[in-house]
Amino acid sequence: MFTADRIARRVEELGAQIERDYEGKELVLLGVLKGSYIFISDLARAIDLPLSIDFIGLSSYGEATESSGVVKITSDLTRPIERKHVVIVEDIVDTGLTMRYLLDNMATRRPASVKLCTLLHKPSRARTRIPIDYLGFEIEDRFVVGYGLDANDKYRNVPFIGVLRHG
Ligand code: IMP
Ligand code: MG
Repeated sequence: MFTADRIARRVEELGAQIERDYEGKELVLLGVLKGSYIFISDLARAIDLPLSIDFIGLSSYGEATESSGVVKITSDLTRPIERKHVVIVEDIVDTGLTMRYLLDNMATRRPASVKLCTLLHKPSRARTRIPIDYLGFEIEDRFVVGYGLDANDKYRNVPFIGVLRHG
């Protein structure tokens, strides 16, 4: 679906956009594990600002490929985000239920601001309206893997993004 080159060019653009928007502010990039680990490492290097990086581990109860909206924090931030400007870095917003939970949870921690940067978005699957501030690519309703995205924890290391073919 997207070659490594195409992804790299888009990530550079997103980084430049974030760099312009956060100059002079205390920026925290908050990666959602595990899917965002490659995206956040490329994105961070495309932002020439003295930012900090933290991670949150989330897991959704229910089927592996379908979000239930019931989310568990499996690993929390290492530092408070109070008065910091947070950009959440996610691999994909599908139904939006995971992000709804995360945005509500982050709001209770009194950050100066929270914005969302997601590499992929499947608008046809949305079950709640999630404001996306920085978007890599909008995609059709296909199950994709690679560049951090997994199927049953495999294919994360594939350098491009491809559609998973069953059978
Ligand atoms: P949501 O709560 O339905 O928005 O789903 C969010 C999570 O489901 C994402 O962060 C991914 O981890 C996973 N997910 C959704 N669609 C895909 C996909 O096409 N490939 C791999 N993971 C996906
Ligand atoms: Mg994810």
